[in-house]
Amino acid sequence: MKEKIESLRKHLHEVKIESAEQLEAYRLEYLSKKGKIQELFGEFKNVAAEEKPLVGQWVNQLKNQAQELFDRVKDEFSNQNDQSEKKEDLSRPAFLPYQGARHPISLVRKEIIDIFNRIGFVISEGPEVEDDFHVFTALNFPPEHPARDMQDTFFIEKNPDFVLRTHTSSVQARVMQSQKPPIRTISPGRVFRNEAISARAHCIFHQVEGLYIDKNVSFADLKQTLLYFAQEMFGKDTQIRLRPSYFPFTEPSAEMDVSCNICGGKGCNVCKYTGWLEILGCGMVDPNVLTNCGIDAENYTGFAFGMGVERIAMLKYQVKDLRLFFENDKRFLNQFIGAY
Ligand code: PHE
Repeated sequence: MKEKIESLRKHLHEVKIESAEQLEAYRLEYLSKKGKIQELFGEFKNVAAEEKPLVGQWVNQLKNQAQELFDRVKDEFSNQNDQSEKKEDLSRPAFLPYQGARHPISLVRKEIIDIFNRIGFVISEGPEVEDDFHVFTALNFPPEHPARDMQDTFFIEKNPDFVLRTHTSSVQARVMQSQKPPIRTISPGRVFRNEAISARAHCIFHQVEGLYIDKNVSFADLKQTLLYFAQEMFGKDTQIRLRPSYFPFTEPSAEMDVSCNICGGKGCNVCKYTGWLEILGCGMVDPNVLTNCGIDAENYTGFAFGMGVERIAMLKYQVKDLRLFFENDKRFLNQFIGAY
């Protein structure tokens, strides 16, 4: 009896169950009513009375051991089945890692740059803290011009000869000083004006300004270049109109409107029922500016233009409040995920 128990115990250690059929065969062999363990219980009556407690214990242990093995393997099998039923669809596209979004100002800035790159304008950059000469004097601002006033300009306290640039025209003054025509350049960058923050104005914003200087550059060139830009930016049906205006550094000067991209010019609340939206200032570079920057104004002419990136972005994405661009509210920024 003892040997029988011992050899069964050994068997239980060695038994391999790898399929449902093998599990069933195991159950029949060991655990069923005609199985080997039940057989031991049958033989139990032949065990000498004084050995009964000990042998009984052994047989019970063996039975538990056999039952545990059965339960464990059955569990494993049923887990495997669960998994195979929930099998993933391997052809399903993967979840993309969350990457955030480009900022709408970056998107529009890039789009403006790309449009002018296509027609040969190269990027120039310059300092944000700039001297008075490049921001004002070179650009023909008279000494009493209101734009020099404390109300508009952030001056550097320690040296009021330095300011935070109020426009990126300062970069163009530097380009004119250091390069010879033909010059075809755009200067994207941050600018600063001492203005109260509201839905339509901010003390920091972004500009892209452009400059083209060569022999025989005319107002017609300016118009055609800006028409190209407007139609690339707002669609092929976009029309432009130029209204006379004034800037110290251009003569003649104009402000440009595009036909409203929301209503197509019919009139809506975005264009205030005029059918037009103002997007930039422009004009022929004043000969004084060319002279101030060392370019021969007898032989060369040029045009210049400048636009606010926030303004274009507001029109393009129909954003009603400029402050949204600066608050970095994820609910706003997440709307630009996937835009390039
Ligand atoms: N510098 C002007 C501004 O900041 C824009 C402009 C640039 C106008 C070039 C005319 C020509 O508003």
